[in-house]
Amino acid sequence: MKIASLPAVSGHYNLTDYNKEKLDFKWDRVEKEFSWYHNGRVNMAYEAIDRHAESDKAFKTALFYEDPTRQESYSFLEMKKWTNRAANVFTTHSDLKKGDRLFIFMPRTPELYFSLFGALKKGIIVGPLFEAFMEVAVFDRLHDSGATAIVTTPELLDRIPLHRLPLVKKVFVVGQQIDATDRIIDFNKQLASASDDFDIEWLGLEDGLVLHYTSGSTGKPKGVLHVQNAMIQQYQTAKWVLDLREDDVYWCTADPGWVTGTAYGVFAPLLHGVSVVIMGGRFSPQNWYGTLEKYKISVWYSAPTAFRMLMGAGNHLVANYDLGALRHVLSVGEPLNPEVVKWGNDILHHRIHDTWWMTETGAQMICNYPALAIKPGSMGKAIPGIVATIVDDRGVEVPPYTMGNLAIKSGWPAMMKEIWNNKARFDSYFLAGEWYVSGDSAYMDDEGYFWFQGRIDDVIMTAGERVGPFEVESKLLEHPAVLEAGVIGKPDEIRGEIIKAFISLKEGVVATAELEADIKKFVKEGLAAHAAPREIEFKDKLPKTRSGKIMRRVLKSWELNLPTGDLSSMED
Ligand code: PRX
Repeated sequence: MKIASLPAVSGHYNLTDYNKEKLDFKWDRVEKEFSWYHNGRVNMAYEAIDRHAESDKAFKTALFYEDPTRQESYSFLEMKKWTNRAANVFTTHSDLKKGDRLFIFMPRTPELYFSLFGALKKGIIVGPLFEAFMEVAVFDRLHDSGATAIVTTPELLDRIPLHRLPLVKKVFVVGQQIDATDRIIDFNKQLASASDDFDIEWLGLEDGLVLHYTSGSTGKPKGVLHVQNAMIQQYQTAKWVLDLREDDVYWCTADPGWVTGTAYGVFAPLLHGVSVVIMGGRFSPQNWYGTLEKYKISVWYSAPTAFRMLMGAGNHLVANYDLGALRHVLSVGEPLNPEVVKWGNDILHHRIHDTWWMTETGAQMICNYPALAIKPGSMGKAIPGIVATIVDDRGVEVPPYTMGNLAIKSGWPAMMKEIWNNKARFDSYFLAGEWYVSGDSAYMDDEGYFWFQGRIDDVIMTAGERVGPFEVESKLLEHPAVLEAGVIGKPDEIRGEIIKAFISLKEGVVATAELEADIKKFVKEGLAAHAAPREIEFKDKLPKTRSGKIMRRVLKSWELNLPTGDLSSMED
């Protein structure tokens, strides 16, 4: 398919200077920034926190934290102290050691970040879990990873089926006082009396960092393991793409349960010693504009759904806030519509810079970095040091303007190290030996800009969150009234996609509005609110292959009123 490109709009940098820097760029140039270069050893927590605490940035604010009940800030020195204390709590109250998995399952609070970096200081691999997950989702992730400890809050404790997780030896509970046992530890109480000093565990670049679970179109969510080496690309993209500078105040709105919230919520900016704002609590346009104003945020990284919600709240609102500190605005996670770029330009007075990457890539890959002219609707170009292209299904590169699989030459610094416990799944990402195949379809224009077209598989991106239809379907099948279920993403103006379920009911069950509401609630309470179908359509029968697999492709074409395509594998 051949597609015409839109006109480009100029960026705000001197292209010539910028290009000089990136000419012949090699990743090993970045190593110089880290202790690795001097002694062959490294630790993300040291590079992001202690290194600055031991420099003239010691008293600079590392973290501004705010939610409706708390408003706090921590300097790099204080962050060093609190993360040392957290590391000491883990040492005193568990056998956790390098390479063990500890999960953090809680809303954003300063303690989340203390325990994240505290665990990293011990060389523990951290699995962040989104706070909206319910029992099944929590169980699957803890079980698959063989986690031995978890940090959580009293409110979320009920959702962790500890009786089915014998490997989980220690549960660190943050917040109000709790009845401690040998297994349940009062984190805040122990933190208050822990020592401020800790001997960091020095690691190699290939040692583990974070384990983010993410969804594909089939099977349970898979654990994407990232290693310390990711810091090289996270550091460099913070410079080139986020354009972070010494005095910036930076806000990334993503939750650390998702990869953006770790890689760019804290790691990338703190590697540069830049002050980070963390907002707890719920989204509201007033809160968000208020945060931008109050903290004089200069670099802001968010997502299309959030921008569309702000657009929806009306442009008059913006006039009440002084957003004068803002210098650079970026987006990730879903297609950024040209209308949103235009809104950014007209209302925020900044062009929103789109960035493309995935949990598996560990860092930004294809971006509208400031030196590039933005073509609204395009994700930008591969950043220096990254080779991206479009390949056909055999792994052969196709000419510009031809749609195909968005692929990356494997071996970039932040590339996932493995899929936890699943070598076959890891291998299945690679075509013709060298190409990592993203699962996205796109085309490249003749200037090397990439244009997103859609997912090739059935993965749903709803409000920027990646949901696997299989997980939702499995949960639906546990409902007593449901016989069969097929789940698709339905296009939605605000959320990008919403989850729609097609359901056939067991014999004798009548489809009613109450039943529909009950099924939605069942998924919401069993799996996660963001994974619950917003729409349900009852059908007598669902389209299936002869081997009994539900054909989501046909459901999608029903929904979109499109031709159903090849039905030769469908049962009679
Ligand atoms: O489909 C692409 C979409 O998000 C997927 C990756 O999701 P996840 O692993 O949760 O990571 C999200 C943020 C790093 C991709 O396969 N996606 C990500 N960025 C964009 C995007 N789709 C369109 N435009 C983007 N800029």
